[in-house]
Amino acid sequence: MCRVKRKWLAACGALVMAIGVTTGGEALAKEKHKDIVNVSHRGASGYAPEHTLVSYQMGENMHGDYIEIDLQMTKDGQLIAMHDEKLDRTTNGTGLVKDYTLAEIKQLDAGSWFNEKYPESANPNYEGLQVPTLEEVFKKFGKNARYYIETKSPETYPGMEKELLRLIDKYDINKKSLLIQSFSPQSLKIMNELDPSVNLIQLISYKNDAVITDDEIAAIKEYAMGVGPNHTYLNEEYVQKVVNSGLELHPYTVNDKDRMKQLIDWGVTGMFTNFPDKLHEVKKGK
Ligand code: G3P
Ligand code: CA
Repeated sequence: MCRVKRKWLAACGALVMAIGVTTGGEALAKEKHKDIVNVSHRGASGYAPEHTLVSYQMGENMHGDYIEIDLQMTKDGQLIAMHDEKLDRTTNGTGLVKDYTLAEIKQLDAGSWFNEKYPESANPNYEGLQVPTLEEVFKKFGKNARYYIETKSPETYPGMEKELLRLIDKYDINKKSLLIQSFSPQSLKIMNELDPSVNLIQLISYKNDAVITDDEIAAIKEYAMGVGPNHTYLNEEYVQKVVNSGLELHPYTVNDKDRMKQLIDWGVTGMFTNFPDKLHEVKKGK
C-alpha cells in the first residue's frame, strides 16, 4: 500500500474513533444528567416568596423532584415552614418564631417582602401570603409528593423530630420518597433512632476547600445515606470520593447553569436550586 493511502486510512480510522468516542461520551453525559435529583430549594424561591405554598407549587410545575422545607416550631409546638429562627426577613413580623403562637404567625404577611426585594419578579398575588404549617403542606401536596425536610435549630426546639415523625405518619407520607436533612448530626441520629426507615442527609457547611476523610464518611454512613455540602468549595476529587463511597451527594444552592453542568460532570447525584426550571433544562441537555 502506498504511503499516502496508509496515511489516509489511518486518518479515517482516527476520525471514526473520535466520532464514536464523542457520541458515546455525549450519550453517557446525557445519562448522567437524566438522573440528577432536582430539589426546589424553599420551593422555586428564585421566582416566588420562599416557603409559601405558591413557591412549592411553582417548584413542582418547574419539574423539581423534591420540595425543600425548612422547619421552625411555634410557641404552641406547631411545625411551620420557615428558614430563619426570626420572623423579620420573610414576614412583616419581628422577633423569634418560638415566642409566637401559630395563630399569631398566621396573621403575618409572608409575601410582600419578596415584591419589595425583587421588583423584577414581583406579583400582586404574593401580597398577604401566609406562613404554611407542615400539615398544610402535606395536605396540599399529598402523601406521594417528594419532601426534603430540614430540622432547623433542633437545639432550640427539643422534640421537633418526634413531632415531625408524628405528622409524617399521620399523613401517611411515602417514606421512599422522603428525605430528612440537618446540619445537626444529633438531630439526624434522633430521627434514626425514632424511625430507622427514614432516609437522612447530613448537611455540611465548608468555609474553604472541601475535604472529607474516610473516618468522616464512615461516621456519616452510620446514620445517613448522603451528604449535602455548600457547593462553593467543592472540587472533583471531593465529589468522586463521596460518591464512590456510596453516599448520595446533593450540594446547595446552585443557581447557575454552568456550575450545575460542572457539578454533574464531576459526579454529584442531585442538587438544591432556587431555579428548578434551569436545572430541568440542564438535565435535558439545554
Ligand atoms: O438544606 C440545604 C440548604 O438549604 C442548607 O442551607 O441555609 O438554605 O437551609 P439553608
Ligand atoms: Ca434548607
